[in-house]
Amino acid sequence: MDVANRCIERKVVEEVVCVFIERDPVNFANLKEVVEREEHNYPYVEVLPPINDEFATVVSDIIEKVGARLAPSFFFIDPFGFTGVPFSLVKDILSIPRAEVFFTFMYRDINRFKNSPNCEALFDELFGTGEWRGKQQHELRDLYIRQLREEAGACFTWDFRMCQDEKVQTLYYLIHATNHFKGLKYMKEVMCRQGPEGLFAFLGPDEFVRRHQMKLFSNDIPSLRNFFLTRFAGQTVKYEQIQEVTYLETPLIDKHSNEAIKQLETEGRVTLNGKGPRGGIKENTRVTFPSN
Ligand SMILES: C[S@@+](CC[C@H](N)C(=O)[O-])C[C@H]1O[C@@H](n2cnc3c(N)ncnc32)[C@H](O)[C@@H]1O
Repeated sequence: MDVANRCIERKVVEEVVCVFIERDPVNFANLKEVVEREEHNYPYVEVLPPINDEFATVVSDIIEKVGARLAPSFFFIDPFGFTGVPFSLVKDILSIPRAEVFFTFMYRDINRFKNSPNCEALFDELFGTGEWRGKQQHELRDLYIRQLREEAGACFTWDFRMCQDEKVQTLYYLIHATNHFKGLKYMKEVMCRQGPEGLFAFLGPDEFVRRHQMKLFSNDIPSLRNFFLTRFAGQTVKYEQIQEVTYLETPLIDKHSNEAIKQLETEGRVTLNGKGPRGGIKENTRVTFPSN
């Protein structure tokens, strides 16, 4: 509610509706009390009365009634468990244009219970496939991400490791799935800002690069400059293309690509056309790279 209110105040968006779903009666009573106590502090946000029900029941209902007409929506699915969020439902959510999913994947607990006969049906439902059988802990996480990409057709996913006790043990992953590049862009920037302090452990560079099949950048800007010079040799591209390559193929973000291009321009190694009125690089600024 706080973040939504600030977004409206700053005119990032015109309207935000918050919907809270909680199945447990005690937690629901607490949720309701907090929402009712706090909502007047966030006057711009529309807060619907919290719903005491199963997530899957409520969301299936919304999808059935509203379907593709649903306003752009961010589904934060944070069950702290692994029941009640069937993969088929996540797939239905992602089939709605402009809907995104941010899912708490209970890495430690899923691994603990994977050999329990009572959990077989639950796991089939959670993963939307029987392929989880016989898999190691990290393979289960990778399978879930693969399902998001291949089965639910999410164009971009990004995940973030959450640890306990000074990063000794991974508790869960927050996995984000979106169909729009900007969804990935903003999520990656937020996640980069959070790590590596405290509970929010950003993936170590090696693991991160391996899992996202990216290049390892030892010293951000210099290696990014060389990467661009090779990647775009002999081409003229819009800066937005450079941004996309940065987000999809490197562990870095806009502040790095912007600085790398500025340095290359200062040294006369690239030419820029169509800069902003104050000389800044814009998304449609064209950058010409020399051939190798
Ligand atoms: C980690 S808490 C949510 C915290 C909240 N996202 C926040 O940031 O403050 C998890 C809650 O989800 C509820 N829950 C778990 N599975 C659910 C389901 N399938 N449907 C509805 N609520 C569920 C649990 O009862 C629990 O209160």
